[in-house]
Amino acid sequence: MIRVLSVASECVPLVKTGGLADVVGALPGALATEDVDMRVLLPGYPAVLSAVRATETVWDAPDLFGGPAQVLAGQAGGLSVYILDAPHLYNRDGGPYVDLVGKDWPDNDVRFAALSWMGAQIGAEGAGDWQPDVVHCHDWQAGLTPVYLKARGVDRPTVMTVHNIAFRGITPADRLSALALPVWAFQPDGMEFYGQISALKAGLVYAWKVTTVSPTYARELTTPDFGEGLDGVIRSRGGDLVGVLNGIDETVWDPATDPHISPFKQPRGKIKAKKALVEEMGLPQGDGPLCIVVSRMTAQKGLDLLLQAMPTLLARGGRLAMLGSGDAGLEAAWLRAADNHPEVAVRIGYDEPLSHRMMAGGDGIIVPSRFEPCGLTQLYGLRYGTVPVVARTGGLADTVIDANPAALNAGVATGVQFAPVSAGALSAALDRFCDLYYQPKIYAQLQRNGMRAPFGWAQSAAEYAALYRGILPAT
Ligand code: ADP
Ligand code: GLC
Repeated sequence: MIRVLSVASECVPLVKTGGLADVVGALPGALATEDVDMRVLLPGYPAVLSAVRATETVWDAPDLFGGPAQVLAGQAGGLSVYILDAPHLYNRDGGPYVDLVGKDWPDNDVRFAALSWMGAQIGAEGAGDWQPDVVHCHDWQAGLTPVYLKARGVDRPTVMTVHNIAFRGITPADRLSALALPVWAFQPDGMEFYGQISALKAGLVYAWKVTTVSPTYARELTTPDFGEGLDGVIRSRGGDLVGVLNGIDETVWDPATDPHISPFKQPRGKIKAKKALVEEMGLPQGDGPLCIVVSRMTAQKGLDLLLQAMPTLLARGGRLAMLGSGDAGLEAAWLRAADNHPEVAVRIGYDEPLSHRMMAGGDGIIVPSRFEPCGLTQLYGLRYGTVPVVARTGGLADTVIDANPAALNAGVATGVQFAPVSAGALSAALDRFCDLYYQPKIYAQLQRNGMRAPFGWAQSAAEYAALYRGILPAT
């Protein structure tokens, strides 16, 4: 049995802003079959504290970065968790990273330095009678853990996983002592990033192993186009960087058992789901394809390109249902598109049950991301017989088999890929998608192939377990 502490800022079903939460929440269950006992250290946001049951205080102190704090061990959402309860840092209305009007909390550096510090504390001294063998850090919010461990002189194996390098956790150099960081680490070969501190860079430099969430993104990260200035650091890690593809939680995302829909097993089961979704979204009924998007609205996701390419889909009898929230300009542009086109419906907000109904009722799911470390919605689409149309980048490139003539002949295609990531190429891809859709036999084969594709956690869990075993000191 290997004990692993997973340090993260979000985790399904307790708190979620994106795919990071899905992955952090699914890993412990997936790894249990690999003889790994994974527990998750999370900030004590109100939603997390109210969900945790049967707690025991395993650590406390009168002052952790400016206020009293304790660590509660317990069960929440079916997971074994450690909750860092520090009211001065986490007891606020709003999201994990932003206030009620969407502005970053001004003290995010210390909020997540505290999380990382606690990761190192448990890594070094354990919690109660549980001592982790490995500490697994996710994204910049946990990036400082390996530095804090090193500063204590503790040689605990660490893994740093990059879910999205666009977030580098940057804070001014004069915060060094406020964050209790060692001066020796503030250097170009350490966590210094153009005169500032980067928590993500700290993790990239000091973790024993670095992983990211798809093999293609692992390669992309070594290039200036994708590396966000950290490509040199990534290159310097050489073989220490591996890409392990995310899986989907098959207990949550299964069209045969999904409580949010009328469950179905065959692609044709979605006929009813499509009709219901068309009605729910107030779209015109018709024979053409219904495409969906479920996404954060940020520049990463390429939704501006879809606004430009959309006429191609509509001209071929298609309809488009969008669920998302984020950037105010993008939200407004999509609402305008819905006003101008009866075939386009937009729901602004975050709505988990609706996202399930959309996966069930859609014919196609469009993911035109400029970069995508892994991407989960195309995987949900595959599982629900909703054929993905994706940009050929990151995990999208690794999980969808383009319906080119060779793949169609071999009977293995699952969707449509396009490159470069431009409105023109997306428009051509939507045209190609419609060609496939209007050939029912071929389209049904794409659906069947996708529904059978093995995107559960089994293989990736085995890869993580092997990675942990590989860095444990020989006994
Ligand atoms: P990212 O983490 O970059 O946002 P992923 O595709 O990995 O991208 O994960 C996004 C996750 O968030 C998926 O589980 C998706 O279903 C969910 N999601 C995104 N936007 C919404 C929304 N508006 N309502 C419900 N779920 C959403
Ligand atoms: C990030 C990425 C996304 C990935 C998710 C989980 O949010 O943007 O591509 O699927 O993390 O790893």
